[in-house]
Amino acid sequence: MPMIVTVHSWGGGVGKTTAVANLGYLLARLGLRVGLVDAGLQAPGLHLACGVPDGQLRRGITGYLVGECGLDDILYDLGPLAGLGGGRGALHLAPGVVDMGAIARPALAGQYDTGLLHEGIRQMAVALDLDAVLVDTHSGVNHEAVHALAIADVCLTAARPDTRGLSGGPLMATISRRLSVPFALVLFTMVPPGMTNTALTGIALRRYESPMAGALPWAAELARGDHTGLFAAAFPEHPFTVALHDVANLLAGLRT
Ligand SMILES: Nc1ncnc2c1ncn2[C@@H]1O[C@H](COP(=O)(O)OP(=O)(O)O)[C@@H](O)[C@H]1O
Ligand SMILES: [Mg+2]
Repeated sequence: MPMIVTVHSWGGGVGKTTAVANLGYLLARLGLRVGLVDAGLQAPGLHLACGVPDGQLRRGITGYLVGECGLDDILYDLGPLAGLGGGRGALHLAPGVVDMGAIARPALAGQYDTGLLHEGIRQMAVALDLDAVLVDTHSGVNHEAVHALAIADVCLTAARPDTRGLSGGPLMATISRRLSVPFALVLFTMVPPGMTNTALTGIALRRYESPMAGALPWAAELARGDHTGLFAAAFPEHPFTVALHDVANLLAGLRT
């Protein structure tokens, strides 16, 4: 089985999906075969962070979870889009689709089999010979997030280092630990200038009782939202990319 990395958060809009897409890309650049799974069923967006427009996707993960289509129908090879060359590294996406029928009915009514999420990841890993699968979740405590934590080898609690992050973030980290996730780590996001890694490491240990996986700086280019596609591919030297690269190295190291 590949290493399953679940990224979750208490609050929404903390930069979780952006982190998952770009972390997947950076792991693929390190030579890993990576799968990205959009388990944010209520508001899928991982495809956009990967540079795939809404209109290009017909079917998505909720269709698979309710048995309307097979896994083969939803997998999307991001290799060409991400500019991955001929090496071992690969990047595949199991996306959600932005479609009223696909989202509202199954996700809101809970009419799907969450067990299929794990089975889907397993099948995807075998079919594509994956080393790692990154699972993006919807914020807060919900069905898919808890399920995705229960099957994780690593969980990253994404949080802004602000009052809201410090409110429910530690609760999410506690849930991960109680579900016995082997590596429960904090990923600080949208870190404002002036906050040092030393200070953030202290906050992670004291408030989250977890080690820090990394600290991603605030990036005006991301906040403006005028960039489409994989940020790390377009801005390889940006401090956001450099910080995320360290997280990718850490995750790659946890595999061995
Ligand atoms: N480090 C960052 N600095 C500034 N803006 C960011 C950063 N990371 C993400 N964003 C922006 O914040 C918004 C929400 O990000 P997203 O990844 O969708 O969050 P989430 O998945 O937690 O809801 C997007 O417009 C994104 O471009
Ligand atoms: Mg998101």
